[in-house]
Amino acid sequence: MTPDIPDIPDDLISQLSEFINSQMGLHFPQNRWKDLRRSMADVVQELLKDHEEKDPVSCIHRLLSKPLTKKQGDLLAKHLTIGETYFFRDKNFFNALEGHVFPRLIASRHHSRNIRMWSAGCCTGEEPYSLAILIDRMIPAWQEWNITLLATDINAGFLQKAEQGIYTRWSFRNTSDQMINAYFKQMDEGRFEFSPALKNMVSFSQINLVGRGYPSSINNTHAMDIILCRNVLMYFEPDVRMQIIGRFVNSLTPGGWLVFSPSESPCFHHSELQPVLLSGATLYRKPESGNRKYETGNLLPDVFCRGSQKTLSPTSPIGEPVPDIFYRGSPNTQLAPRDPSESNLDLYHKALKLANMGKLDEAERCLRQAIDHEKLHPEYHYLLATICQEQGRLKESAKSFRHTLFLDPDFVLAHFHLGNLTLQEGKRDMSEKHLKNARSLLLPMAPEDILPHSEGMTAGQLLEVVQSMVRRGGVRLGA
Ligand SMILES: C[S@@+](CC[C@H](N)C(=O)[O-])C[C@H]1O[C@@H](n2cnc3c(N)ncnc32)[C@H](O)[C@@H]1O
Repeated sequence: MTPDIPDIPDDLISQLSEFINSQMGLHFPQNRWKDLRRSMADVVQELLKDHEEKDPVSCIHRLLSKPLTKKQGDLLAKHLTIGETYFFRDKNFFNALEGHVFPRLIASRHHSRNIRMWSAGCCTGEEPYSLAILIDRMIPAWQEWNITLLATDINAGFLQKAEQGIYTRWSFRNTSDQMINAYFKQMDEGRFEFSPALKNMVSFSQINLVGRGYPSSINNTHAMDIILCRNVLMYFEPDVRMQIIGRFVNSLTPGGWLVFSPSESPCFHHSELQPVLLSGATLYRKPESGNRKYETGNLLPDVFCRGSQKTLSPTSPIGEPVPDIFYRGSPNTQLAPRDPSESNLDLYHKALKLANMGKLDEAERCLRQAIDHEKLHPEYHYLLATICQEQGRLKESAKSFRHTLFLDPDFVLAHFHLGNLTLQEGKRDMSEKHLKNARSLLLPMAPEDILPHSEGMTAGQLLEVVQSMVRRGGVRLGA
């Protein structure tokens, strides 16, 4: 039964509308207060079940009085977001991907075999799964590639539905029967299940685009080749929209593409993006030579050299083989002659700066010189690990994260990344061990504590990511 629309006074609905704008980006100007009141009827009804408040007005006062809990945020997202989507929405755009963007990207990644895409505001999954189908058609051996297809949304219910991958005909408004037959299994009269193999290409996670947690390798939102954010920002105020587009620009690799829907594109200009018309669709490109800058990325440790106070233990605290040497030099990395006036600290800072500009090869050369002279700095190995990770050299990256932990067993982000990498490799036990370590290091911290080397991520935010990985990855963390 639909609940009655609560009698919320104008000044309170105005405060609520500002609050929702600041927390979720959604814009409810005065002419949409009626919609807001209607949606709040459902929110309030669910909140009243849990709280002591007896009436909608005090319930809303309570919502406004403190930072939102996850439960409150999920409730607001459930009732305020719009979930309209379907497979292959906007044919022109998919033609542009198939005819122009992918062929060039695939050719240029022939050696690294690495492609990274993000569907931001993915709703119930139709958009990222359309990308997965396209990848399958264009790279038949995609399993031998390192494909990242991240799909995020603020609405936990949408994400749950996306992970199930079960759709009705309504999602196939723009999909041929041939495509449906090839990629879906009919379950009964009206329901179709998406191919389990392709489902695995996509990783879903809950990200609020208004938050400042991206780009970051912690939630895998960095160094993207293609970001789709279609039919999302049109519900946001221009200021919030521009901040989000600015963060997307930082999440893109040089030469990467940002895509809005056709109705949004004409209004969403950004000085660092070039509009490109392809097959009747407008896509935005970050110039090849653009400076890559991580505002919140992992490559800029904010505390340098906090120094490990630990004594080195002869066996690794995480039960993995202890590295016999720290660095022998990668066969591909020629060390440039070293300027004798440069200290290791200078070299490390230079490496950081280069990494932040996207000059990863040069950054690695500098860093390896520093490591060559001073092998026992966990920070150096951590930075090396993140550079290798960014270049898709995941085995080397894992090795450097292990070196970091050998030198500093409490390096929480190294545990987190290793948990992630080993989960991707299907090593569930190892992943469980690292995530458990990350969780036990995070739990005693205050949620608002900023994590070293995370450029602003708080302990509470990382804990949330760890818990969400656990929920989605099926890892057992125990009590
Ligand atoms: C209309 S759907 C668009 C789906 C898909 N991108 C498409 O074009 O078909 C808008 C999506 O944006 C999501 N959304 C709204 N506000 C958001 C926010 N602050 N952060 C992340 N996602 C958000 C909604 O939950 C919804 O799934």
